Amino acid sequence: MRHFGWSEGNEVYLPLIDAEHRALFELADSLQNAVSAGARATEVREHLHRLTAQAEEHFTHEEWLMQSAGYPSYGWHKHQHDTARPSKAS
Ligand SMILES: [Fe+2]
Repeated sequence: MRHFGWSEGNEVYLPLIDAEHRALFELADSLQNAVSAGARATEVREHLHRLTAQAEEHFTHEEWLMQSAGYPSYGWHKHQHDTARPSKAS
């Protein structure tokens, strides 16, 4: 099973964004460890909720930064975020 370990290869060299990415890796690793250990469904859901909430907060922050800086690949990157976001029932 793949391990969600942070490495220098994951850095984008923006300290605040790297810190947010590192935190997401840690939450994903915690979720994976809970599943691997056979944790109860309620505990797994809590890990999953923390990860998705943190991811959404990060995506929103990163999109704001990209738009503020006029990042030329904003549309592509936003699409990547949107594919990772849970679909919303209409
Ligand atoms: Fe990101």
